[in-house]
Amino acid sequence: MSAPGPASRLLITGGAGFIGSCYVRDVLARRDGTRITVLDKLTYAGNRANLAPVEADSEQAARFSFVRGDIADPEVVGPLVAEADAVVNFAAESHVDRSILDPTAFLRTGVDGVHVLLEAVRRETERAPAGGRRAEPRFLQVSTDEVYGSVAAGFSREGDPLAPRSPYAAAKAAGELLARSYHVTYGLDVVITRGANTYGPYHHPEKLIPLFVTNALDDRALPLYGDGMQVRDWLYVADHAGAIDHVLRRGTAGEVYNVPGSHPVPNRDVVAQLLARLGKPWSLVRFVEDRPGHDRRYAMDGAKLASLGWTNRVAFADGLAGTIDWFRANEAWWRAARSGEWDAYYERQYAGRLASADAVPADVAPGAQAAADAEAVPADAEAVPADVAPGGNLAEKEA
Ligand code: NAD
Ligand code: TYD
Repeated sequence: MSAPGPASRLLITGGAGFIGSCYVRDVLARRDGTRITVLDKLTYAGNRANLAPVEADSEQAARFSFVRGDIADPEVVGPLVAEADAVVNFAAESHVDRSILDPTAFLRTGVDGVHVLLEAVRRETERAPAGGRRAEPRFLQVSTDEVYGSVAAGFSREGDPLAPRSPYAAAKAAGELLARSYHVTYGLDVVITRGANTYGPYHHPEKLIPLFVTNALDDRALPLYGDGMQVRDWLYVADHAGAIDHVLRRGTAGEVYNVPGSHPVPNRDVVAQLLARLGKPWSLVRFVEDRPGHDRRYAMDGAKLASLGWTNRVAFADGLAGTIDWFRANEAWWRAARSGEWDAYYERQYAGRLASADAVPADVAPGAQAAADAEAVPADAEAVPADVAPGGNLAEKEA
């Protein structure tokens, strides 16, 4: 066992993306001597500007380096893993809708890339007992609640079967199963986190919350899939990054840890809340053709992570308000993210849907939470106040 302490050397793959960059900014801001190398391919979703606060601070910049490269490239990965006490793998293609348009890159990064990382960690693990390095490297695979598939009621626990339903979720399940197999077969020090839907500053505008915030700021239509009653358990990005760091340092090798959000909410309610904060009308919403295979509900039990001593800090209402304010204040950032291949993607994903969208009755927004609770969430779960829900969702998952 070799959980990294302060002043350790971390290799953070995918560290220029949304959650990875939050992790890098937050860990370096602790000024505890930790050194971080980011390995990132800088796909359309990767953005060095997400790491600008680190590079602008000379003390943090001295403990930081950036390598542009692919986790599926063994020549790049090998030497970087050799220098690391731990590897945290955030790198992935992360958008379900893009995985439906074309799964190829999802498998290359999510399966082949994870395999290349694991092989490098395996080599370093084998060198450790002979004194070839300080200690065995720890490997943390960042996974997702989407590996459980759609959960009609109750809360997924770590031992539940995996039933991914999109190419994105299937690639994530494959990656974490591969990581686990390297623990069992080769004795690698592997830990896995399964995070809930994450939101916050620097979130790529292809995802629900930043797409709808930035569209609404421009008074553009908000394309809500299906009936808008799908339920997601929103997790503030700094809480997700903090939980990952907590598991990296305190998790038990071979274990999986759910990282739930603060409260499962139907999409309609999220949209109503963000429109209220922006002072924009519900009439911007268009109910459009649903996502194929759209998962109806995700919700996880966080008791295992809570027993490791982790508690989320940010309630959804506060996190959403702060996120909206961040997008308002950082228009240059999101306009840049909505450039390049954005228009072609947007056209492919939404043009047909918006052209055939239904008109939306103005009174459809209120009450969606109550309807969702009645439909999907057991009564005892509702007794859990939103501010203790992280780790406090102790209701048993129903069969
Ligand atoms: P993101 O798309 O914002 O960032 C992904 C990063 O990985 C980008 O910087 C990209 O350039 C990089 N990348 C992609 N392929 C790469 C490759 N082959 N080699 C090196 N770098 C590569 O994603 P995110 O939302 O920050 O998600 C990070 C991780 O967390 C992913 O593994 C994702 O599956 C997982 N996750 C995300 C959420 C969520 O709601 N966003 C929830 C749970 C888990
Ligand atoms: P998203 O942010 O893509 O995350 P995920 O698919 O990983 O849950 O979507 C969150 C929810 O919002 C999901 O139920 C799909 C829905 N959604 C829309 O209704 N319209 C959209 O344009 C997008 C991107 C998502």
